[in-house]
Amino acid sequence: MQKFVRITSLVLASFLAPFVVGQDLYSEYPSRSAILGGWSGPPLPSSASTSNHTRMSPHLNVLGYVTPWNSDGYTLTEQYRGKFDAVSPVWYTLKPTLDDATKYAMAGGPSTSAEVAWYRRLTEHSVDEVTGETLPPVKVLPRVLLDNWSTQQYKQLLSSFLEGMALTEAIVAEVVLRKYDGIVFETGAVWALYEPLKMLAERLHAEGKEIIIVLPAMRENQTESNELVTSAAKALAPLVDGMHVMTYDHLGPMGAPALFERQLPAHSPLLKDGVRTPGPNAPLTFIKENIHVIQGGEVDDSEDADFAQSEGNQQVFQPGTSSLQSDYGTINATSDAYAASPSAILSKLLVGISMYGYEYPIAFMDDVGVPRLTTPPSSPISTKDNSSEEQAKYRARADQRDASRQVTPILGQPGKAITIHYLIDVLLHNKALVRRDEPSAENYIEYVKAKEDGSMHQREDGSQAPVAWYRRAYFPSPRTIEERLNIVEESRAGGVALWDVGQGGAWLLHRL
Ligand SMILES: *[C@@H]1O[C@H](CO)[C@@H](O)[C@H](O)[C@H]1NC(C)=O
Ligand SMILES: *[C@@H]1O[C@H](CO)[C@@H](O)[C@H](O)[C@H]1NC(C)=O
Ligand SMILES: *[C@@H]1O[C@H](CO)[C@@H](O)[C@H](O)[C@H]1NC(C)=O
Ligand SMILES: *[C@@H]1O[C@H](CO)[C@@H](O)[C@H](O)[C@H]1NC(C)=O
Repeated sequence: MQKFVRITSLVLASFLAPFVVGQDLYSEYPSRSAILGGWSGPPLPSSASTSNHTRMSPHLNVLGYVTPWNSDGYTLTEQYRGKFDAVSPVWYTLKPTLDDATKYAMAGGPSTSAEVAWYRRLTEHSVDEVTGETLPPVKVLPRVLLDNWSTQQYKQLLSSFLEGMALTEAIVAEVVLRKYDGIVFETGAVWALYEPLKMLAERLHAEGKEIIIVLPAMRENQTESNELVTSAAKALAPLVDGMHVMTYDHLGPMGAPALFERQLPAHSPLLKDGVRTPGPNAPLTFIKENIHVIQGGEVDDSEDADFAQSEGNQQVFQPGTSSLQSDYGTINATSDAYAASPSAILSKLLVGISMYGYEYPIAFMDDVGVPRLTTPPSSPISTKDNSSEEQAKYRARADQRDASRQVTPILGQPGKAITIHYLIDVLLHNKALVRRDEPSAENYIEYVKAKEDGSMHQREDGSQAPVAWYRRAYFPSPRTIEERLNIVEESRAGGVALWDVGQGGAWLLHRL
């Protein structure tokens, strides 16, 4: 009953939001000042009994990665621990040793006593200070990465069950010693490792521990590697406790091949190869299509199937069937006896949710390849920054200008992933207009910022000034996260995997 009332008031609040509070943190277009004022704070109260720990999607399994290089994640996973089922600190790599006795060794682990104390606190019960409710332990499943293994090293692992046993023991010893709840296992060749993974999973389960594996996202027109992913999911689902599919970096730093709305003249330099255009991190159809295909659905060949257009960014290891001799036994990974049903695959699926954005340096080119100088659209004057009408007026003006100019944004150089701290710095220095990319539900802003290499140019009066670049940054807001979660819920996938918690700021956790 309590829960029902809470949900109702939430629905009402978000229904009324556009009319009452204007451009708040949870709007499709959160205002610049709402972001600056709210990105790190607690959730805006939707009822007196909600807290940092109140789940908005209680039946989704939530895994959050924490990386030492975005260390806000350590704090955030505690401040919002009630929203997480499991946390994966990105701590370990595993490599072959040159020692015949041990064969494999784990490297890494918690590097300070504070990190040890952090993960131990997560694995204990806690209490929500606001509601007084008991919060269950959060599972700690550190990531173990087979970092940059060579084909030869994979072949060695597959050559004998003794190799698989040695790898298993190296991992299990650390898990037991540190009292972790299990691991997340990541390798670029997960589809090739059925036998060692089966061994590892059975040993971990015998110790009462869990294993989650990581799968690459499927991409348009990469039939061969997509089939490897779907057959791996089918074969491995029965063995593991979860499968995280990395549904982000749809375009990555290189963007997409530029498409021009009008026929380009034959002499246009834009017709030559390699002209790229920016795009969002994770279109909603890309996420949807991945969930659909991985459970065994048909690939959607229609035009709006939004698989990536980037090529060859995933190195595929295929051991082949040729001369490789193995004494792992007669297990056949692809035999139907071991293959999971679509619903079994779905229930294990943790859909990747990116907590970061992309910034691209761009120039607007007309059809004949001449750059058109322009100023970035700005947000309304600060006192009207939260006014829905004023924001809509500014957006309409920017849209109209875009539509009337017959230009295409072209990458000046590769883009890069950006975190909330970067975005906040940009917003502090630029009164940028917050816009929205509908197909991804991501927001974007445009602004001018000095080039990273510090290059200078001479002004007419002889003085020096930094060379600046026009840029577009795509980023997720709470509304983006909400729309991605809606897809995961509608598809009945088991849950989500957040990469990574420390990149996004507290506001992205509010709608979990
Ligand atoms: C807009 O609203 C946010 C809260 O959503 C607040 O932090 C910010 O100060 C407001 N901006 C203005 C200019 O009133
Ligand atoms: C809730 O999270 C915010 C950070 O977003 C933090 O400042 C605050 O202390 C947390 N509240 C509680 C009661 O833990
Ligand atoms: C990966 O391994 C190869 C040798 O197998 C080495 O040459 C290369 O530097 C390594 N790359 C990284 C990023 O460690
Ligand atoms: C994928 O292949 C189809 C048919 O060959 C082609 O029309 C389409 O442009 C390709 N898409 C990409 C992104 O390469």
